[in-house]
Amino acid sequence: MAKELSEPKSRFLRACRRLPVDATPIWLMRQAGRYMPEYRALREKHSMLDLIGSPELAAEVTLQPIEAFDLDAAIIFADILPPLIGMGLELEFVKGVGPVIHNPIKTTRDVDMLAAPPAEVHLSATLKAIEMVVRDLEPKGIPLIGFAGAPFTLASYAVEGGGSKDYARTKALMYSEPAAWKRLMDKLVTVQADYLVKQAQAGAAVLQVFDSWAGLALGREAYLRYAAPYNRKLFAMLAGTGVPVINFSTGTAGALKHLRAAGGDVIGVDWRVNLDEGWATIGHDVAVQGNLDPVALFAPPKEIEKRVADILRRAGGRPGHIFNLGHGILPETPVENVIAMVQTVHELSAR
Ligand code: CP3
Repeated sequence: MAKELSEPKSRFLRACRRLPVDATPIWLMRQAGRYMPEYRALREKHSMLDLIGSPELAAEVTLQPIEAFDLDAAIIFADILPPLIGMGLELEFVKGVGPVIHNPIKTTRDVDMLAAPPAEVHLSATLKAIEMVVRDLEPKGIPLIGFAGAPFTLASYAVEGGGSKDYARTKALMYSEPAAWKRLMDKLVTVQADYLVKQAQAGAAVLQVFDSWAGLALGREAYLRYAAPYNRKLFAMLAGTGVPVINFSTGTAGALKHLRAAGGDVIGVDWRVNLDEGWATIGHDVAVQGNLDPVALFAPPKEIEKRVADILRRAGGRPGHIFNLGHGILPETPVENVIAMVQTVHELSAR
């Protein structure tokens, strides 16, 4: 019994703990999304926030890629931005534009006006969806991943009011008002830690933290000073859940050691890094996830196979590799290439 508890059967959970596996596990960031006709059909009838706000619909979307592909994990269908709604920010997903926040943070007073409600107040639909999906997946032996945004990446949306190229407003606040920046980041840590802990309590077997833009927006020194300390706090607050945590970011090739130091049982490696070099820098005593260039999925199957083989070769058959893309799957990706990639990963890595 004790052995069963400490040694999970699922390939994905085993890889998170660097246990030997029968084949390399694979799942895809944004695996439920617009490249799937089943998803587009549902989106014609419901807005993004309606899908996330309905436990039944969110559960249905979460399961779409599990039914279509031989994936080793599911990820709950949600987004990193809805927690900002409970904090007092007006979020809208605008067609053709992306996420927009209508009342972005402009002043230090705006920072202090932000609320920090517990997750069950505004995010109960996602917690409920997790419970539903876990009931469905448990007999299949497929674990569910819960997730949230890291403080810097969330702060960037809250301050810019949407996506950004230069993160000018965010960095101006950070550089000019360091005390307010600290209060903002501490509030985000509180909200995200609470949300992630409750996702684990609802049944998520693994948690992934997305710090998608920290590496692209910040140089190494700024990352260490303005983002890393809060990630460290967040990861420390997740340790008590007992579930493995994946620390994902992009553009952090020059800060891999610092990522590892901030925390996480698995470090996400983006597609810009050679997996073998990245893993050596991070340290082989931690698991890694990655890192096929999402655009490789637009190439012919032969080329995809070559690139999958290259990544598996770089992983060297070492326990603790989770195959994934180096960032989210793109909306125009051909479904047949996804099928081919998943099959190739399992076949070439079978031991
Ligand atoms: O991985 C999954 O399948 C789970 C669902 C998920 C979504 N967003 C669904 C989504 C996850 C894990 C996210 C994370 C997310 N959301 C991130 C971090 C991941 C990353 O890519 O680095 C970020 C930065 C966001 C914010 C966000 N949400 C943006 C910038 C956009 C618009 C860009 C786009 O792709 O359209 C979204 C919308 C969004 N989130 C969609 C999906 C499926 C597309 C919405 C649609 O159907 O129109």
